[in-house]
Amino acid sequence: MIIGVLKEVKQNEFRVAATPNAVKELTHRGHEVYVENNAGIGSGFSNEQYEQAGAVIADCDTVYEKSDLFYKVKEIFPQEYKYMKKDKIVFTYIHSNAHLEMTNALLESGVTSIAYEDVIDKNGKFPLLKPMSELAGKGGFLAGLHFSQAVNGGKGILFNNVCGVQTPVVTIIGAGNSGLGAAELAASFGNQVYILDVSLEALEEAKAKLPSNVTCLFSNRVNLENCLKKTDMLINCILWNKTRKDHLVNRDDLKLMKKGSMIIDVACDDHGAIETCHSTTHNNPIYYEEDIIHYAVDNIPSAFAQTASTTLCNATLPYLMEIANKGLKKALKENPGLRRGLTTYEGKLTLEETAKKYNIKFVSPDAIIANF
Ligand SMILES: NC(=O)c1ccc[n+]([C@@H]2O[C@H](COP(=O)([O-])OP(=O)(O)OC[C@H]3O[C@@H](n4cnc5c(N)ncnc54)[C@H](O)[C@@H]3O)[C@@H](O)[C@H]2O)c1
Repeated sequence: MIIGVLKEVKQNEFRVAATPNAVKELTHRGHEVYVENNAGIGSGFSNEQYEQAGAVIADCDTVYEKSDLFYKVKEIFPQEYKYMKKDKIVFTYIHSNAHLEMTNALLESGVTSIAYEDVIDKNGKFPLLKPMSELAGKGGFLAGLHFSQAVNGGKGILFNNVCGVQTPVVTIIGAGNSGLGAAELAASFGNQVYILDVSLEALEEAKAKLPSNVTCLFSNRVNLENCLKKTDMLINCILWNKTRKDHLVNRDDLKLMKKGSMIIDVACDDHGAIETCHSTTHNNPIYYEEDIIHYAVDNIPSAFAQTASTTLCNATLPYLMEIANKGLKKALKENPGLRRGLTTYEGKLTLEETAKKYNIKFVSPDAIIANF
């Protein structure tokens, strides 16, 4: 199969889908790889490294024209619509339920699209979301570390156990992928960490993985209020249901918090679990509400582009390899987890959530493979 690795067009997106090591794996297995000129530069990977791994460096038009499969990171932007064609495959984060215009463009083009975020593993978990969430949790804590500094607008707390000084308190709500990432770093810096979740299973897993300076608490109103009163950094890592209209932390709750403390909203749902949160950018990451610093950057992993590209590629490559080695139809037939990510196929919408949201006819991926 011929694989095309594209340079991302989204502003401030520095990740790339394939590392040079991944290209080597693909070429070693007899596949051809075209890499767009400077596609990896934002992640610190040079054209020469890709060439040494066996790739051909080419301009954007050539990569799209030559390739059977487009290997990307972000959704498809308007300037990329013209490259989407029947008999081509695009494998990337798609988020079709958030982008109606793009979804229509994919359907009109007849391209086969497979969304990273909807691929599931044998346990029903999302293996291509996990690495980015973990990184976002860790990056969220590091952002807190930065913005707590007096020179960066904070109240000058060093999130570390300093002898003779009260140990800072970090509260994390949500003990999933991002919550565990945040807790791992916050705890390793010696902070007093509280992690709250409504799932006892998630709390048990957290307790088994994390050191003894982390207290695992059931997420209820009393525990949350107690934590808000003493916390210096609150990190929201909840997977919040987008249809919910209520909040876990209301504007009034901010008055319980110490002045100048921080809310890091990794989940980044506008007015979601945290009423006062709205998403921000790396260019303008923080704002203040009720004397509390808010940080809610919606693409935290991009700040750690090389690590993010590498960990994402480690997770996506086995699926890409399966498609490349077996061919699309056999791979979809034999791997139900990969099939779950099928979003569009020859003009049919195969992702139920998006079909329901936009009232578009849904054809199940199982019905698609029944015709192979
Ligand atoms: N800002 C970014 O750059 C970025 C990057 C990656 C992921 N995210 C977002 O982070 C969020 C979390 O992702 P994840 O992979 O960690 O999710 P996850 O499913 O692994 O974990 C979410 C956890 O929240 C818990 N939870 C649900 N309701 C709760 C409540 N009321 N109180 C306490 N806990 C509750 C769940 O039980 C679960 O353990 C998602 O919305 C994801 O889109 C943001």
